[in-house]
Amino acid sequence: MMRAKIVGTGAGIPKKLLTNADLEKLVETSDQWIRERTGIRERHIVSPGEKFSDLCTHAAVEALKRAKVKAEDLDMILVGTISSDMLFPATSCLVQRNIGATRAAASDISAACVGFLYALHLADGLIQSHKAENILVIGGEILSRYVDWTDRSTCVLFGDGAGAVVLQATRGDHGILGSRMKSNGNYGDFICMPGGGSNAPANDPRTLEDRLPFIRMRGNETFKVAVKAMADVSSELLAEQGFEKEEIRLFIPHQANERIIDAVGERMKFPAERVFKNVDRYGNTSAASIPIALDECVRGGLIKRGDLILMTAFGAGLVWGSVLLRW
Ligand code: UT7
Repeated sequence: MMRAKIVGTGAGIPKKLLTNADLEKLVETSDQWIRERTGIRERHIVSPGEKFSDLCTHAAVEALKRAKVKAEDLDMILVGTISSDMLFPATSCLVQRNIGATRAAASDISAACVGFLYALHLADGLIQSHKAENILVIGGEILSRYVDWTDRSTCVLFGDGAGAVVLQATRGDHGILGSRMKSNGNYGDFICMPGGGSNAPANDPRTLEDRLPFIRMRGNETFKVAVKAMADVSSELLAEQGFEKEEIRLFIPHQANERIIDAVGERMKFPAERVFKNVDRYGNTSAASIPIALDECVRGGLIKRGDLILMTAFGAGLVWGSVLLRW
């Protein structure tokens, strides 16, 4: 059986830092509130002129280099995102051009914060069915361009960035062991951006007058659904694959909020040291959060060959899912 194995990781992080102290000057908030309610201390955001495709390209080049795979050998590029440079063409096509992946097909996957895991899930299917051998999967976002900087309940949460992995077809026990993705459109209004799409086009002056092209979120309700959804889908995946929680070396949940991460970890009964967190330094980078975390873990020596890694995320849709892999 063919398996999709991660053979390289990379990240593209904007240089500019936005601290809680900076936010205190923008809206009525405090470093203490943000740290206590979210665990976030600072986040990176893009500067004027910096593009989403730039971050993705940086992450892709790093991942290819570490994988020792040439861009021309890629069969497919998938970018999980909801903040592409333009509504079309897809950012994956811009990355394909930037890195010279002349043979690769390219498409974006829209699944908000779960975009990277959805893309991994699909890429795994392509490799298992012999439709591709080398796939570049990127998860990234620059939500700082969609945030309402007058809304303190959302503007303190998000950060920008991109992370990438190169997946390669392999035989053996190492690689993606299983994945499970879910959605429930009944919760579509929990997190959304009502303007800028075809329903309220950006070229209609009323769209901006009504302040529609900004992120809106029912944070508290999202919080409650998110914890149960991520714990349930992760438990289902482990049971399906025949593993016990104790066998998981590292649990990498979506870095949305430290309280959500802790609550999911506790519900899953993982010891705190096996639950990865970097939300304090990046904020919620949406689709980028898991690939950035994975890249940090690999570079920091937290993951060793043979380790079982469980990743899970939730986001606007609502969508959620889990991926289990053996490093
Ligand atoms: O990737 C998926 C994206 N979505 C999420 O991650 C959302 C998940 N939800 C959350 O992370 C939390 O719900 C938030 C961090 C967004 C909010 O925390 P909370 O504990 O649910 O607070 P809350 O919304 O219940 O608000 C509590 C109070 C309110 O004041 P009152 O009504 O009690 O007087 C808010 O107005 O905190 C106030 N508040 C703030 N105060 C200072 C909300 N935002 C801020 C702020 N600074 N930035």
